[in-house]
Amino acid sequence: MAEETITSMLEERRKFAPPRNETAHIASMEQYAQWRARFEADREGAWRELALEHLHWQQPFTRVLNRERPPFFRWFEDGYLNVSENCLDRHVAAGHGARTAIIWEGEPGEVRRISYAELLAEVCRAANALKQLGIEAGDRVVIYMPMIPEAAVAMLACTRIGAVHSVVFGAFSAQALRDRIEDAQAKLVITADGGWRRGAVHDLKSKVDQALDGGGNSVRHVLVVRRGGNKVAWKPERDLDWQEVLCVESDVCPPARLNAEHPLFILYTSGSTGKPKGILHTTAGYLLWARLTMLWSFDFHAGRDVFWCTADIGWITGHTYSVYGPLACGGTTLMYEGVPTFPDPGRLWQICAAHDVTIFYTAPTAIRALIKAGDEWPARHDLSSLRVLGTVGEPINPEAWMWYYTVIGQRRCPIVDTWWQTETGGHMIAPLPFATPTKPGSATLPLPGIEADVVDGDGKSIAEGGGLLVIREPWPSMLRGIWGDEQRYLETYWRKFDGRFYFAGDGARRDEDGYIWIMGRVDDVLNVSGHRLGTMEIESALVAHEAVAEAAVVGRPDEVKGESICAFVVLKQGTPDEALRQALKRHVGEVIGAIAKPDEIRFAEALPKTRSGKIMRRLLRDIAAGREIRQDISTLEDAAVVRRLLEDQQG
Ligand code: WT7
Repeated sequence: MAEETITSMLEERRKFAPPRNETAHIASMEQYAQWRARFEADREGAWRELALEHLHWQQPFTRVLNRERPPFFRWFEDGYLNVSENCLDRHVAAGHGARTAIIWEGEPGEVRRISYAELLAEVCRAANALKQLGIEAGDRVVIYMPMIPEAAVAMLACTRIGAVHSVVFGAFSAQALRDRIEDAQAKLVITADGGWRRGAVHDLKSKVDQALDGGGNSVRHVLVVRRGGNKVAWKPERDLDWQEVLCVESDVCPPARLNAEHPLFILYTSGSTGKPKGILHTTAGYLLWARLTMLWSFDFHAGRDVFWCTADIGWITGHTYSVYGPLACGGTTLMYEGVPTFPDPGRLWQICAAHDVTIFYTAPTAIRALIKAGDEWPARHDLSSLRVLGTVGEPINPEAWMWYYTVIGQRRCPIVDTWWQTETGGHMIAPLPFATPTKPGSATLPLPGIEADVVDGDGKSIAEGGGLLVIREPWPSMLRGIWGDEQRYLETYWRKFDGRFYFAGDGARRDEDGYIWIMGRVDDVLNVSGHRLGTMEIESALVAHEAVAEAAVVGRPDEVKGESICAFVVLKQGTPDEALRQALKRHVGEVIGAIAKPDEIRFAEALPKTRSGKIMRRLLRDIAAGREIRQDISTLEDAAVVRRLLEDQQG
């Protein structure tokens, strides 16, 4: 796309930018350059100013950044504050108690609107209930819930008393839930009987029961919200009804005084080895960046905007942009319980129209699925309230970008392509909606304060061209480590460049304008529908099945999902037929969850390996994608293995 076109789009869009007078709004590339210069001149001074301006401190910090033991950085470490106080009390005290904090729509269609005053009262009741159950600051609480307001209440109640939450996505299996409970040594699980998905109640409590059967011994209580109305088993000494427990509690609970570096939450994500990593985020730095990125990259304005991030709270996107970001700003966030295409592919647009959503944030995979469903669906709904559109999770192809821009945004809404990760806490590379000229498919430029760079294998910066994405300077919302595994933190993110900078695991290209184009993961991590899955995690699930001797999992390009899962399986028993294929898919669903089920299982006599015994993944990726094999296979232990795999594909 020509530079001219992009700039004229920008001018067009500015007409729709409402007038602003907030310090946090970046309205032009000149202002962006000023911010960058400000950071360059005095990095810590800039962070100090932002942290003092944007957070409410019970005791302000004096020290900005402790770099004594890199990469174990500590931010604002002598300050004290409380996240729930920043997200609730502060706004009520400012006179916004009646403002809507959460608009919730259930899948069957019921709507709840919860004001800041109501949310504060409910969070206090829940926090008091947690105390009654013996939960103290630092204790871990696992949250396994549908997208209902009580999920946000549970998260905020933890922050009120300093308990560390770990939200587990509701579609993960009982076994995956147990692994996370055990790794975090959680004392309490908060769940629901079930939630609505695709027109039926999806059971959650029974999965908690299964997870705690013969495991998860650290758990003393299970707190159950009634949502689905489905029948559940009950262990009287362990299980408690949320409503019954909360209704006797006071709606006043003073926010705990917590250190800036107090652990806020653990969120498990897949890595390149079998075991998911518990990414640890702490209090002040995370909250600061959640708020700032809402203001900068979404141009979010409390009291005017209705912000909808379609991600489930089981993912970092849901943490930062369904809950903490919008609430830290005192604005309105929308939560939707169900499937985006239920009962028809117009559901998302119906919700946008019904609640006058102004900022909408979703994943390219959803956009591509909606393109396929047809333009008649958005056409049925009035989308004129929309003014900013965001995307996240995977590279967005220019066609999907243009559709989003023209059909949904009506050429009036900037497209904000946000690159970031569970580990980064919030956006890192993203356009400023009313300042940055966009290019379809590029996340554009790093936000102020973020020193993102594209480097070669030795860490040398590449002015123009492809390389690896790194972050050169610590930033406040960076992960503080992997729960219980210091070594893995060092290995995964820092060893590659000898501790000099953070390695993101993504490949990227920088163009002639300095714009960054994300190319995707360079490790054994898959990105399926914007969800991160480890190939080794799926492989270990497969080999745990009695019929499987060996397995190799690779990603294959997919038109809608970005990547789909292809598993090559060598059997030790059983017949390689459709029944076994289905059984293996089911098995992976039970071990990890439905999202990890392979789309395709190919039975093989053996896996192609080098003479040193390494599985040749690149070769398998080519075979899975039906691409021509460009690789030299002479180092293969058995070249016949490859020939047979290729023949199998043609047949
Ligand atoms: C990985 C992080 C951050 C919330 C969602 C996923 C990929 C993320 C983009 C984007 C291209 C992207 C990267 C990254 N990714 N956003 N805008 N363009 N790729 O969080 O599960 O931690 O996954 O998602 O590969 O490393 P996550």
